[in-house]
Amino acid sequence: MTSVQTPSPSGNRDGFEAVVREPCHVRRFLQEEVPREDMESMVGLATCAASACNAQTWRFIAIRDHGLLAAMQAAVLERFEELATRPGLVLREHLRTVARAQALLFAKAPLCVAVLSTPVDSPMEELMRLAGVTQEEHDRLCARPELQSAGAAVQLLTSSAHAFGYAACWTCAPIVAGERLEELLGVSPPTRLVALVSIGRPAEVPTAPRRLPLEQVLTFR
Ligand SMILES: Cc1cc2nc3c(=O)[nH]c(=O)nc-3n(C[C@H](O)[C@H](O)[C@H](O)COP(=O)(O)O)c2cc1C
Repeated sequence: MTSVQTPSPSGNRDGFEAVVREPCHVRRFLQEEVPREDMESMVGLATCAASACNAQTWRFIAIRDHGLLAAMQAAVLERFEELATRPGLVLREHLRTVARAQALLFAKAPLCVAVLSTPVDSPMEELMRLAGVTQEEHDRLCARPELQSAGAAVQLLTSSAHAFGYAACWTCAPIVAGERLEELLGVSPPTRLVALVSIGRPAEVPTAPRRLPLEQVLTFR
């Protein structure tokens, strides 16, 4: 049987490798606005990501409203104040400070993109529901396809940002204040806020990420 020829991509393997391999994550951004057209192009590319059942249940909110960002920042801070009163956390100030800094990165860039995800009602989900499995079993057996799909889209979004000359920072630590953030963004269940991605021109040189050697991550059986 002859193999079916897959349509050839643009053939620019070097360009692709450069976008993927070059570091693009930073934690400091210039306050230079990201034009709407760039934002639309980047999200357009992100939506080329694969999704479970091709449901494409990710949604993106490009937040440029400084008032809204300030309210979101306040919600995260309030959450950390509340966490500081928990018996197990009262004395863990350093840990709280590090986690709080990670959770507040979203407000440091000129553009913050909220990524939303809605569970997909796939045949497998329905099968598990009818089989009466517990939620815990369900999560293990179904492996959260909606989160995997959103992750694929976020990776494409940050890579697209890099290809457009921007830097990005993918964050999920702010989801610690998820419910309040969802309220501020007008998001309601079953849709969930799963990530906040900061995008802007970098104000620091992205550091080269350390990656594990291939032999440590790839096995053949
Ligand atoms: C799912 C996910 C969640 C992340 N959440 C945060 C976060 O909340 N705060 C943070 O500072 N970095 C977070 N990071 C890490 C940064 O986005 C980025 O990957 C890190 O700065 C390393 O960059 P590198 O890819 O250049 O190594 C997260 C990364 C991923 C993939």
